[in-house]
Formats: sequence, structure tokens, C-alpha cells
Amino acid sequence: MTAHGAAQHSGTQPLLHQKGHELQPFGTVKQLPIGLSQDTRMYACQRLNRILADTQMLYALYKKHHWLMRGATFYQLHLLLDKHAGEQLTIVDGIAERVQSLGGVAVGDPRHAAEITGVPRPPDGVEEVPAMLSRLLEAHETVLIEARDAATRVAELGDDGTNDFIVSEVIRTGEAQVWFLAEHLVDTPLVRV
Ligand SMILES: [Fe+2]
Repeated sequence: MTAHGAAQHSGTQPLLHQKGHELQPFGTVKQLPIGLSQDTRMYACQRLNRILADTQMLYALYKKHHWLMRGATFYQLHLLLDKHAGEQLTIVDGIAERVQSLGGVAVGDPRHAAEITGVPRPPDGVEEVPAMLSRLLEAHETVLIEARDAATRVAELGDDGTNDFIVSEVIRTGEAQVWFLAEHLVDTPLVRV
């Protein structure tokens, strides 16, 4: 037996280049015994996936602007935007896992998320600092409007877990981040009145 053949039969050779069919299509939910109807779980997953796509874009915008930041307050904004990005990434994971716990399929690939999101694509280059901050605030508002409506609707359908997650994580974190960002757009003197 050749050295190559020996490796294949030793039980240590990974079975590479495997292809398979899609097990569960996007937009479907499987049955799970959590006391919520198929329709409710389907609706909640659809709303969550939109918020998930928007939050993935918000996260990416934060990282982009963290990298592209400039000017006298570079250091402060560079760090703040990265902190917010980290918090949004935690929310991305939480939303995706909420979709899975409802039996759905979370939006994963960023190209798929880009098809679903309502957050506009920024220019590939660098904008003025206030324009970058405004763009982040607008993305936040897109998420917050969507999240508040979704939270109300899923609560009406009895999905308190999804309602709680959206309110406690998406809305509360988003509102606090908007506050911290918006204060950087107040034109106030630092030294002399
Ligand atoms: Fe960084």
C-alpha cells in the first residue's frame, strides 16, 4: 500500500469536499415543543430575521466607521464605535439564536443579509465625520422603528420571549448607543462660552 493509501485507511483522513442538499430552507420553521403555534413562530422568525439583517449592517457600519474615523476626537470616537460594534455583535448572535430556538433559520451570510436589510449601503469611501455619525444614527433609528413594531406584534401573538429579547436587548441597547452618539453632534464650545 502506498503512503497515500495508508493515510486514507488509517481513520485519520478527513473526508473532504463533501456536498449535500439543503436540509431546511430559509423562511421555514420546524416543530418545537415550546407551546407556540407554527404561524406565530413563523411570523416571529420573519420579523427577527429583518432585525437581524439590519443589526448585521449596523455592526458592519460601526466597524467601517471605527476604521475610517479621523480628526481631533479620533481616539475617543475610534474606541466608542468599537465598543458599540461589540455590543451589536452580541445582539446579532442573540437574535440569530432566538430564530433558531423558534425552529427557524437565521440569516447568516452577509450577502443574504444585504438583500433583506432596510439600512442603506454607505459609500465605499470616507465621508465627513458628522456624516458618518449621522449615518449611524439613521441606521439605529431604522432598527428601533422595526424592533418596536415587531415587539408589539409578537407580544400580541403570545411570543413573550421574543418580545422580551427585542425590548431588553435590541431596543434598550440601541437607545443608549444613540444617546452616546448623538452627543457628539452637539455643537458646543469646550473652553469659552
Ligand atoms: Fe479595531
